[in-house]
Amino acid sequence: MDWGMENRFSRLFDQKSGRTVLFAVDHGYFMGPTTGLEQLDKAVGPLLPYVDALMLTRGALRNYIKPNVDVPIILRVSGGTSILAREWGDLLHEGITVSMEEAIRLNASAVAFSVMVGSRFERDTLLEFTKVIDEAERYGIPTLGVVAVGEGLNRDARYLSLAGRIAAELGARLIKTYYCEEFERVVSTCPVPVVIAGGKKIPEKDALTMAYSAVQAGAVGVDMGRNIFQSEDPVAMIQAVRAIVHKNATPDEAFELFNELKNR
Ligand code: 5RP
Repeated sequence: MDWGMENRFSRLFDQKSGRTVLFAVDHGYFMGPTTGLEQLDKAVGPLLPYVDALMLTRGALRNYIKPNVDVPIILRVSGGTSILAREWGDLLHEGITVSMEEAIRLNASAVAFSVMVGSRFERDTLLEFTKVIDEAERYGIPTLGVVAVGEGLNRDARYLSLAGRIAAELGARLIKTYYCEEFERVVSTCPVPVVIAGGKKIPEKDALTMAYSAVQAGAVGVDMGRNIFQSEDPVAMIQAVRAIVHKNATPDEAFELFNELKNR
């Protein structure tokens, strides 16, 4: 890695643990005013001290985050379809939505692009993805590959390792994917670090257990959204997630911390 690439990449991680708690609040790019993010600034502000990097769109960054905030930015640069596109089988059929010049202007530490492996439009998203990677590499910006598999395919180790490996071979520096059984397989067959997405909101204890299992299986951390900002206490939840990722806390210990912070 050249200096600029290495510098931006290392900013995404906690220097002590070498792991990361990325906070994803990019949902509006295809879900509109997602529950919990209606007033994005109010949702994100109190959590910023506990975030290793913030993943969001350029519109959210410009309109809701003050430029003097000291947090690395992972800028979402893909989109083009909404949640409604699921109805006609086009969900996550994404293209490039932000130029690299704009990413640099916004001082992004990384860019994020979603690819859908195993769908009828996988070729479109994979080829657009490589265009972003080429541009990003030119300026020393790491690309986070957000990896999903086509509707109807199981989100299991077989398909997620296939999709993650493809995204890494195409040049992603970091992979975000879903947690599954035998997650070790997804991590060990991927040549770049892997973080997990949180997915739909589940009970806090279950989300903490998922984060713990992922990290124990070799994930370098999480890139969680809804399971933090839709929690009954997002500030307590992110600290509990941090305990797991950065301090190797068990799910029981982290849940105890969550309850303690919540009741304070
Ligand atoms: C969709 C995305 C997201 O918008 C988001 O980052 C997902 O986070 P979570 O599932 O934890 O709410 O990546 O592909």
